[in-house]
Amino acid sequence: MPLPKAITAYTLAEATSVVAQLRQQVRQYAQAYYTKDAPLVEDAVYDDLYQQLQQLEAAFPTLITSDSPTQQVGGTVLAGFSKVTHQEPMLSMGDVFSFGELAQFDERMTKAITRPTEYNVELKIDGLAISLRYQAGKLVLGSTRGDGAVGEDVTANLRTIKSIPQELAEPIDLEVRGECYMPKRSFEALNAERDRNGEAVFANPRNAAAGSLRQLDTATTAKRQLDTFIYTIVDAQRYGISTQADALKQLRQWGFHVNPEAIVARELTQIHAFIEKYQSQRDELPYGIDGVVLKINQLALQAELGNTVKVPRWEIAYKFPPEEAQTILQAIEWTVGRTGVVTPTAVMDPVTLAGTTVARATLHNVDMLREKDVRIGDTVLIHKAGDIIPEVSQVVLSKRPATAEPYLVPTTCPSCGSKLIHLADEVALRCVNPMCPAQVKEGLTHFASRNAMDISGLGPKVIAQLYDRHLIKDVADLYRLTATELAQLDKFKEKSINNLLAAIQRSKQNSADKLLFGLGIRNVGAKAATLLLAHFGSIPALMQADPAEVVAIKTIGQTIGDSLTAYFANDQVQELIRELTAAGVNLNYLGRLTEAQDNFFKNKKVVLTGKLVHYTRSELTQKLSDLGAQVVGSVSAKTDYLIAGADAGSKLTKAQQLQVPVLTEDAAQQYLNEVK
Ligand code: IVH
Repeated sequence: MPLPKAITAYTLAEATSVVAQLRQQVRQYAQAYYTKDAPLVEDAVYDDLYQQLQQLEAAFPTLITSDSPTQQVGGTVLAGFSKVTHQEPMLSMGDVFSFGELAQFDERMTKAITRPTEYNVELKIDGLAISLRYQAGKLVLGSTRGDGAVGEDVTANLRTIKSIPQELAEPIDLEVRGECYMPKRSFEALNAERDRNGEAVFANPRNAAAGSLRQLDTATTAKRQLDTFIYTIVDAQRYGISTQADALKQLRQWGFHVNPEAIVARELTQIHAFIEKYQSQRDELPYGIDGVVLKINQLALQAELGNTVKVPRWEIAYKFPPEEAQTILQAIEWTVGRTGVVTPTAVMDPVTLAGTTVARATLHNVDMLREKDVRIGDTVLIHKAGDIIPEVSQVVLSKRPATAEPYLVPTTCPSCGSKLIHLADEVALRCVNPMCPAQVKEGLTHFASRNAMDISGLGPKVIAQLYDRHLIKDVADLYRLTATELAQLDKFKEKSINNLLAAIQRSKQNSADKLLFGLGIRNVGAKAATLLLAHFGSIPALMQADPAEVVAIKTIGQTIGDSLTAYFANDQVQELIRELTAAGVNLNYLGRLTEAQDNFFKNKKVVLTGKLVHYTRSELTQKLSDLGAQVVGSVSAKTDYLIAGADAGSKLTKAQQLQVPVLTEDAAQQYLNEVK
């Protein structure tokens, strides 16, 4: 958030008062963050305020005081651990949030050093900075950063961390610095255990790492499975090292854990590519990162450039958009799904999360709601689950308003008002009224969706209007819709009416597996629908089939068999099928469009692995199957190709061992594009 008005529009008096306010806020937030490991706001809010303060101070230099947070480096030392004065101060780092600001940094560097600028580009590990001192090769002191000048002696705790060498092969005096962090797996295991024991869970791996390092009982630290990445040799030139890249190599040789993802780059384009790569892959890394650090590679140049009061001039952090945010819960909305499951959604004050504005987040189910004891007015922590859907991860209990009342879970369906029930061994709350309007609309939307009848232009909004105007009540009604009826809908003009009618018309020709899936029979997914129809050839044949024959089909089990039997036994369903038949909807399986024309993938056994960027897994699987390839799960000597995206693991190794040809996703895309 920028300042409410342009810097130049501030009078000195206004600036004085805003600066005072900003300082007070920044101090409060910094203290909570640095010394209590209990941030009061998301990092981005803090960064914003800090930047505003910096901007105002730059415009009104007379307002700068030596005790302004911009002139200091952090919090204070906690009681309980003895203090350590750092021989070299542990500075902080300047940061930028856009490629534009990064270019400005690069320009400053290029001007200052008049030589081709070379950077060592590293990941910014999301943990806490530590310093390790060795005398005659033996670890003698380990400390936290503290306020940058004075830190805490956490030697005993650091000794419990496996990646920290207690003794080096050479009897040298040395000080190194790096990041102590908690791997995501340890974090999840720790929180799961704390949750089981009814203890408060940690908000994120960084807080968990900081909390774990400050244990008075080192046995506790040991159990927490912390790890380190070391990235700095203090006074590296003493050891004959002349670049940061060589420093990392030397650290590795000395036996420190050094992050492998670093490059030397001269061009901003290379750096942009590095940033983009890790920004999109950060979820897959086993540890948290919150940005990328650029360091002038030549140590002599670093020394020439020197430091400001607070930060080295020769390095900068590019910070990723935050993936976690705090906001206030204003309401809980309940939605009824196609199968009657009722799910809670949090409606919150909008916040920026991973670069987008978010005002809604899933609360998953009633059990989770009860377990987290989420209340209206609570401050909640939200994060993006698996990249896309924001989810409420935690209530910030310290900020709960005194007036917040326990939330009362609804007992009746928000759509039809019938009583909600809990089916045996289900966490979900269900509306079991088959006529429930919300469920019917969801069912109709599913019918029209891409993997089902694929009727474009028939999304949830149009369905809702058609249903609410009593123009449709079931899927057969779709085939009786007229232009006059569609003309009643919002924004429906001649063109959209014709398009929709044509799309509905076209859907009649679909292979019947799409129809079978579209009917939304419990447990019958798209794959099962295709298998069933490839076997029986038509929906009527399936309806008359011996249940034993259904269950005998590979991968179709008793559950699907029972669902089908129950579904088709219903009189209303039989009537629906008759109506669809009468409307001219195809009930026969048409197989893969036709026999696939000759192409690179035809009749080949293909395995997919790694993270794809151009397609989702299911899209690529579909495309390959359409071309007559057989997409299988594991690599064997019979596999024709392995398509490997980023971060491929054991499947790639196996393919290499078996000499199975490996295609990159790009190469696979090329072959796909070649097919008309
Ligand atoms: S260089 C001058 N390299 O980020 C202090 N720091 O926001 C910076 N950090 O305090 C040392 N990864 O705790 C450096 N590859 C990296 C880093 C890194 C994470 C942390 C470090 C520092 C903070 C500044």
